[in-house]
Amino acid sequence: MSHIFCIAVEIQMVPSAPTWCVPPRNLSLSEREVHVWRASFHQLNALYESFEEVISVDEKAKARRYRFDEHRREYITARGFLRFLLGAYAGQNPQDLKFLYNPFGKPALYTINGNHRITFNLSHAHGFVIYGFSINREIGVDIERIRPEAAHDGVAERFFSPNEVNVLRSLPIHAQPQGFFNCWTRKEAYIKARGEGLSIPLNQFDVSLIPGQPAELLESRVDPKDTTKWTLQALPMGTQYAAALAVEGSDWGLKCWDWRK
Ligand SMILES: CC(C)(COP(=O)(O)OP(=O)(O)OC[C@H]1O[C@@H](n2cnc3c(N)ncnc32)[C@H](O)[C@@H]1OP(=O)(O)O)[C@@H](O)C(=O)NCCC(=O)NCCS
Repeated sequence: MSHIFCIAVEIQMVPSAPTWCVPPRNLSLSEREVHVWRASFHQLNALYESFEEVISVDEKAKARRYRFDEHRREYITARGFLRFLLGAYAGQNPQDLKFLYNPFGKPALYTINGNHRITFNLSHAHGFVIYGFSINREIGVDIERIRPEAAHDGVAERFFSPNEVNVLRSLPIHAQPQGFFNCWTRKEAYIKARGEGLSIPLNQFDVSLIPGQPAELLESRVDPKDTTKWTLQALPMGTQYAAALAVEGSDWGLKCWDWRK
């Protein structure tokens, strides 16, 4: 990580629109901060060999199970870079980090430093990977490439809540792809933050989705208290991707780091 250079950035309080900044050379994370990183696999390619070196035996075994080379490389790259980032935050060698997994497969860092557990989540889609990091707060991230046809092929009616479908279908037709992927990524970020995967019925909670309006968990039939327990945040990814973050609590500021080699 020595090639990263540093500029000063301000913490942005939720929910103002975040901007991507150049990451600092020395990473530190406080309890009132959430850090999100984004990187493209193309940019990370130059470090691929070092990623192969730092992943664990288990991760290598999982990588071998991917049928397609492209997916294997993406898995190794996303895990390898995760280890470099987590190692930098935790002051540990990337290869020494140990993960444990909840019953639904959500990875967590095994090591707790005093009362501080660094929490994280990651998501990748078609060339990009994003990570969220925090301390002692559950966190979930999701990124999706916007595929306009997906907004109209019945997925919303099958998986979204009736309220979400009504709002989506009331949008002008040209705005529905962005609305659809706003909804998808916010729902996914929420279930990833909770860590229970698709055991949470996707129609049992409502998120905001209207383009330009803040990301919000509007209602949860899973646990009504969740609307105050979790904060959702849209992450700006240009016109071709949608991304979202869900974090426990609301007393945190967000820093977004854009990795460039
Ligand atoms: C596995 C799942 C958590 C996310 O899957 P996904 O969207 O295909 O993949 P992403 O790239 O966003 O996230 C994968 C990462 O999430 C993490 N993860 C795995 N299980 C997780 C869980 N239960 N909770 C949170 N994070 C999890 C892992 O780090 C994984 O990366 P890895 O393979 O390198 O270990 C789960 O939510 C799922 O299967 N979703 C299916 C997608 C869907 O139908 N969504 C409907 C939205 S309306």
